[in-house]
Amino acid sequence: MKGQGISRVVRLLGAGGVGLVLLLTGWAWLNSRLPDTYAVTEMHAHAGQHTDQRVPARSVIDFVADVSRNADVKVELVAGTEGNRLTFNATSPGPTIRVRQGDLVEVVLRNQDVPDGVTVHWHGVDVPNAMDGVAGVTQDAVRPGEAFTYRFVAEQVGTFWYHSHQVSHQQVIRGLFGAFVIEPAGGAGVEAVALLHSYPGESRSLNGTVGEVRQDAHPGERVRVRIANTDNSPTVVWVAEGAYRLLAIDGTDVNEPTEVTGRKLTLTAGARADLEVRVPESGAARVQAPGVSLVLGPPGAMAPESPAPTEFLDPLSYGTPAPLGFDPATADLEYEYRIGRRPGFLDGRPGYWWTINGKMGRNVPAFMVDPGDVVVMRLSNRSGEVHPMHLHGHHYVVLERNGVAATGSPWWVDSLNVENGDDFVVGFVADNPGLWMDHCHNLPHAREGLMTHLMYNGVGTPFLLGRASGNQPE
Ligand code: C2O
Ligand code: CU
Repeated sequence: MKGQGISRVVRLLGAGGVGLVLLLTGWAWLNSRLPDTYAVTEMHAHAGQHTDQRVPARSVIDFVADVSRNADVKVELVAGTEGNRLTFNATSPGPTIRVRQGDLVEVVLRNQDVPDGVTVHWHGVDVPNAMDGVAGVTQDAVRPGEAFTYRFVAEQVGTFWYHSHQVSHQQVIRGLFGAFVIEPAGGAGVEAVALLHSYPGESRSLNGTVGEVRQDAHPGERVRVRIANTDNSPTVVWVAEGAYRLLAIDGTDVNEPTEVTGRKLTLTAGARADLEVRVPESGAARVQAPGVSLVLGPPGAMAPESPAPTEFLDPLSYGTPAPLGFDPATADLEYEYRIGRRPGFLDGRPGYWWTINGKMGRNVPAFMVDPGDVVVMRLSNRSGEVHPMHLHGHHYVVLERNGVAATGSPWWVDSLNVENGDDFVVGFVADNPGLWMDHCHNLPHAREGLMTHLMYNGVGTPFLLGRASGNQPE
């Protein structure tokens, strides 16, 4: 009798325990569910951020280029499908868009037949917020037969790229991207563009060609090679048997770049590097990344391949310091961006998801700022994988990595390679009001929750996210 009583108690307790677990799981599931449509500002309001976003003083659509100014450059991009590929103007990569610093650029995006809709995001260009091309945040996805006009002044100089920011984890890899080059007002010298990209199920390509691409250059010539990594993973690049200088990172010139030999450079997903490569007096120069090369020299000139060097060029100590233009020691705000991973629910889906500051999905806080704020952000990664972190609309400067202060040229980035175990301290001035994505550029990771926003207080949006909205930026 006594034994039976105990086992009944155990059974009851067990049932209660299971019930409790089910209840908690159900609650977690429910709590993770996003409404069918919602504004990005509401998403973060759920995370306990009560701002006046519902009656915003300003809207994302207010942040545009001077409407009275005529365009200096006009471009049309037509998004289309060709088998499994997605194209701009029937090619992938799409056309290289070249402008001069100070130009007002006008790009008309037309969607011929991409069923999910498309947008264009100008990766690394600090455009006015309404032109940022994020579906559901700064505009609606452009449906088949529709069009959208982007207008902005190219204030920066350097190498950038553009890509769709609607269902981006599929559309970018399938081909909706291209190079965007802003030349200095006086024009560029001899240069080359090298877009690295791996289409689904294919070997890696350079400017759409698998293997080797050649470009004519004279012996002794110095060529500015604009490399962009449009893939989801970091890559390395190097120059076979030759010296090079790293002229720019993510569209910002390096201060006093010195010549290096026998070093490879990490280019995180979304990042760009401008290398100055000298064509030898005889033969050719070869810029390499795993699987692809760009050969620069007279027709037929040879350049042997070389294995990747073991040493890295470290931007933390490369070049010479220069003023940052702001003082991180007097930061108005300090934020943490801690990347982790754990099991849970993301919008009702069970899985092993990325976390930001321990939170997932709709419980992730946004980073709130006011115009003029000096912001210091601490990025750390304990998630087990590398993450190429990308902030829209701003560049930040690396102040510290793993406790070591930066000693080289100011290292300004819009795409930062954050390895598992890394701790970065970066700083920037909040000088571009709006609602901006701040996410991992391994685009499937963004979809798996590694995504939040930098939001200016008092800015709202008329656009909606969510299952029923038709907008899905990740
Ligand atoms: Cu290159 Cu949020 O994007
Ligand atoms: Cu990631």
